[in-house]
Amino acid sequence: MASTSLKSKGDLYRPELDDAERASRDEIMALQTRRLAWSLKHAYDNVAHYKRAFDKAGVHPSDFRQLSDLAKFPFTVKTDLRDNYPFNMFAVPREKLVRVHASSGTTGKPIVVGYTQADIDVWSDVMARSLRAAGGRTGMIIHNAYGYGLFTGGLGVHYGAERLGCTVVPISGGMTERQVQLINDFKPDIITVTPSYMLAILDEFKRQGLDPRKCSLKVGIFGAEPWTNAMRAEIEQTFDMDATDIYGLSEVMGPGVAQECIETKDGLHIWEDHFYPEVIDPETGRVLPEGEQGELVFTSLTKEAFPVIRYRTRDLTRLLPGTARPGMRRMEKVTGRSDDMIILRGVNVFPTQIEEALLATDWCGGHFVIELTREGRMDEMAVLAEARPERWDGSGLVEQAGALAHHIKSTIGISTRIRIVAPDTLERSLGKAKRVYDKRPKG
Ligand code: DLL
Repeated sequence: MASTSLKSKGDLYRPELDDAERASRDEIMALQTRRLAWSLKHAYDNVAHYKRAFDKAGVHPSDFRQLSDLAKFPFTVKTDLRDNYPFNMFAVPREKLVRVHASSGTTGKPIVVGYTQADIDVWSDVMARSLRAAGGRTGMIIHNAYGYGLFTGGLGVHYGAERLGCTVVPISGGMTERQVQLINDFKPDIITVTPSYMLAILDEFKRQGLDPRKCSLKVGIFGAEPWTNAMRAEIEQTFDMDATDIYGLSEVMGPGVAQECIETKDGLHIWEDHFYPEVIDPETGRVLPEGEQGELVFTSLTKEAFPVIRYRTRDLTRLLPGTARPGMRRMEKVTGRSDDMIILRGVNVFPTQIEEALLATDWCGGHFVIELTREGRMDEMAVLAEARPERWDGSGLVEQAGALAHHIKSTIGISTRIRIVAPDTLERSLGKAKRVYDKRPKG
């Protein structure tokens, strides 16, 4: 997928690996077995919720002897964490926490997570490993446009970048004009940002009359929201850079749970020495074999402050064998969360499928929102798609919209209303994009 004329790649494709990255599958599994036994006992002994949940399910940490025994233990869901707001899921006294983060939670109580100094050290290590897998090297400049604050993106990447020995520009999200100015003046090698905000930065390059292909950025590390390979191609092409995917979630740690390797770009290697993945059938809870798509579940192996046991992420993906790091499995690019799935007249649709269709046109650059309404008893889906400035003269809209609606109908199988809007009309997000506006009457 990489463009052919990348700026001096140097040794980006030949990283130095640490011990866990060089370990065999058997060595990783032996390590996981030891660490899981510790983590289950740690959670049971120190978190009232896990003791209650294990007792109710009739399992005890001593029942765990091999990896397949994990399936006997109960799942943890988001509401378990919410119900224990703010500090009741912690397995260490509050005084041992050096930091908390929290989900933004627009409604109700946020989910609060916490870290001991040892947890922050592990997080910095896996994040540094992620940056290195993406092509980051000691001495590079990293422009970190993930939001700083309660969101884990900014500080998570920041500590990893320092650990790797990089110079961090902690710009956070927002002030897009300033982002472009600092990219031009500081000449960073790497940008870390949500893919949707990267598009806003791209608009600003164009607005200032600058050629993004001439900027210093060699690598982009994009995550915190779903994005497609079509978007990867778009960003790699317009910036002449390598774009890789980073995954994580606050409950499990933050960014740096899994990272795509720059040399293969074939899904994200899960740092399995610290996070144990399972994929389950979301309906039955059954553990699915490698290669089958379902809901991703994580158990932490080394976390002290906030252990998670079989935490259901709601993210949909599949597990695949390791490639660039043979001892650790990969997860396929996340297509979406089960919460984001739109069911339109019986057909399941994810916003990422719409993104793919839009980027297959020559007139839309990837800014879009989906509106759901109900007319009578029928659900309707409208896609507001923003035209690329260089392709916009206000003409031919009916034909373009018709062709796109036809393409979506024949590939995804749903009827949509397409509204092409002028460049720079849709609201830009500074972090995670909000793609779906559900205006259907509730209930
Ligand atoms: O988004 C952590 C993060 C920050 C990851 C920066 C990568 C980069 P939360 O705010 O807790 O944490 O949101 C976690 O975001 O369950 C997924 O649904 C989604 N998500 C994160 N990374 C990806 C990705 C951070 N690469 C939730 N692809 C997760 C698709 C992603 N979805």
